[in-house]
Amino acid sequence: MKRALTLLTALLTSSALTSATLAAGPTTLREAAGDRLLIGAAISMPQIEDPKQAELLTSQFNSIVCGNDFKPLYLHPKPDVFNFETADKYVAFAEAHGLKLIGHNLLWHSQAPAHLFQDESGKPLPREQGLANLQKHITTIVTHFKGKVIGWDVVNEGLADSEPYLRSTPALKSIGEDYIQKAFEFAHAADPDVELYYNDYNIEKPYKFPKALKLLKALKDAKVPITGVGIQLHCQLTEPKTPAELEAAIPQFAALGLKVMFTELDVDVLPRKASGADVTAKEQGANPYTAGLPADVAEAQGKYYASIFQVAMNHPGVVTRVTTWGTDDSTSWLNDWPVRGRTNYGMLFARDLSPKPAFADVMKVLTAK
Ligand code: G3I
Repeated sequence: MKRALTLLTALLTSSALTSATLAAGPTTLREAAGDRLLIGAAISMPQIEDPKQAELLTSQFNSIVCGNDFKPLYLHPKPDVFNFETADKYVAFAEAHGLKLIGHNLLWHSQAPAHLFQDESGKPLPREQGLANLQKHITTIVTHFKGKVIGWDVVNEGLADSEPYLRSTPALKSIGEDYIQKAFEFAHAADPDVELYYNDYNIEKPYKFPKALKLLKALKDAKVPITGVGIQLHCQLTEPKTPAELEAAIPQFAALGLKVMFTELDVDVLPRKASGADVTAKEQGANPYTAGLPADVAEAQGKYYASIFQVAMNHPGVVTRVTTWGTDDSTSWLNDWPVRGRTNYGMLFARDLSPKPAFADVMKVLTAK
C-alpha cells in the first residue's frame, strides 16, 4: 500500500512537472526558434574554452560563426602557408555539440593578407596573377572545410559606402569588377554543396540598398552560384528606422531567389557617429554606463531587438538565420568600436551571462502564436 502511494505521488509529481514545463514553453532561443530559423552567435576562443561560456552558447544557439579565426589573414597568412589549426578547433567543437558552422569569410578588404592581390611594393598584381591567387586561396580553404561548414560568406563588404558602386579594394584593383563573380565560382567548384553568401552592412538602408540590388541582380543574371545575402545589422538604439527598411528590402532580395540572413546582429546603446560597421572608423565618445545599464535603456534595447526578430518571423522560409555578433556584453567588439575601451551592452546576455530584458523580448516574439 505504502509502495503504491509512493508510486502514485511520484507519477503525479512527474506529470505536474511535465505540464508545468509544457505550460512554460521553450526556455532557450534555439528551442523557441525550432526549425524555423537558425539562431547563431559569432564566437572566439573564450566561448569554447570557458565552460560557462560554452554552456551558454550550446544551450541557446544552434549555429556559430567565428568572429575572427576564419578570416583570410589567419587562414592564409603567406602565399604558400595555410593555417587551419585554430579554425579546426571550432570545427571539432561544432561537431561535438551538433552546431551548424558558417565560414566567415573568404574575401574581405580588412584582416586580409596583402600577398593575394598586391606585389611587395603595394602595387596591384596583374589580373591573371590576382585571379590565380584568388582561385588557389578559395579552393584550398573551401576544400579543407568541405562537409564541415554549411555556408560561406564568400565576399564580405564589397560595396562602397560613399562611391557609387563597388568598394575600391586590392581585389578590385587587381582583377576588376568580376572578382566577386569569380570568388563565388571558385567556391562552388571546390564544394558544390556548400551555401554561398554575399555579406554586407547597411544594405537595407536607402543609400546602399540600390547598390546591393544591382550587384545581386548582376550575379543572378550571370548565373553565379549564390545562395543568399547576409544583412549584417550592426544597429544603434538611436536609429530606430531599421525595421521598416529591412521589411522593404527582404522581398526584393527574395525575388532574386536568395535566402536572407541577419548575420551580425547587435544593438549598440552608446552614442557613436559611425553607422554600420566600417572597421576603420575611430572616434572619441562618451562612456556613460560604466556602472551598469539603466533599466529604461535596457528596455528600449529589448524593444529594438524584438522588432528585428519580428521582421525575421514575418518572412518565414525567406529569413533563414539570425546570428548575433557575439554572445554576451563582455566579449562584444562594440566595447572597442568605434571608440576604444568603452563599457558597451550590445548583446542579449549580460557580462555575468544572465539574460537581459532583450532576451525575454526576443523569446516573446519567437514563441508568439
Ligand atoms: O589578436 C590581436 C591581439 O594579438 C592583440 O593583442 C590585440 C590588440 O588590439 O588585437 C587582436 O586583434 C584584434 C582582433 O579583433 C581579434 O580580437 C584586432 O585588434 C581587432 O581589430 C579585431 O576586431 C575585429 C574586427 O572585425 C576587425 O576588422 C572584431 O573582433 C570582429 O568582431 C570584427 O568583425 C567584423 C566582421 O568580420 C565583418 N563585419 C563587421 C564586424 C565588426 O567589425
